Amino acid sequence: MEPAIPDLRTAPRADAYAQLLAMQELLLEGSDDPIAAMATISALLHHAFTHLWTGFYRVVVPEQRLRVGPYQGSLGCLDITFGRGVCGTAAAERRTVIVPDVHVFPGHITCDPRSQSEIVVPVFDSHGALLAVLDIDSSQPNGFGDVDREGLEAMVAWFARTTYVPVPV
Ligand code: SME
Repeated sequence: MEPAIPDLRTAPRADAYAQLLAMQELLLEGSDDPIAAMATISALLHHAFTHLWTGFYRVVVPEQRLRVGPYQGSLGCLDITFGRGVCGTAAAERRTVIVPDVHVFPGHITCDPRSQSEIVVPVFDSHGALLAVLDIDSSQPNGFGDVDREGLEAMVAWFARTTYVPVPV
């Protein structure tokens, strides 16, 4: 039986991420499958924090197109062009983007109108190629900050340690 995902909504965020990272390491031990890892990380984060949407957009055409991957939450749009929206911006610029208020982010792509704030973290493979982005949407404004960036970047560092994908996943 798999362990239950703890409710970390009221835990100090840094402690919450440390706990999730430890669970992730145990759950993914011995695996090098990026899709299995994306599914596991999405489930951990989504249920621990009860976000609106938690999941991955995969690079299917390098420098051009992202496509939805494993996720939890309400329906996500299927394809996003590099440079468009928060996900496309994080992918094109290869950096974490934190959006405290999605309504004032130029070109924000609305999948769920309840979304108020968002964080998107780039995911690299062991060769430094962009593999995907991790996208989290909150129904609260100003839902994410530097502690989230650090915690999430530590979680997706798993891919840089274990994954080399010569063709897009
Ligand atoms: N809001 C994102 C699109 C993806 S969904 O939120 C799941 C964006 O602007 O890139």
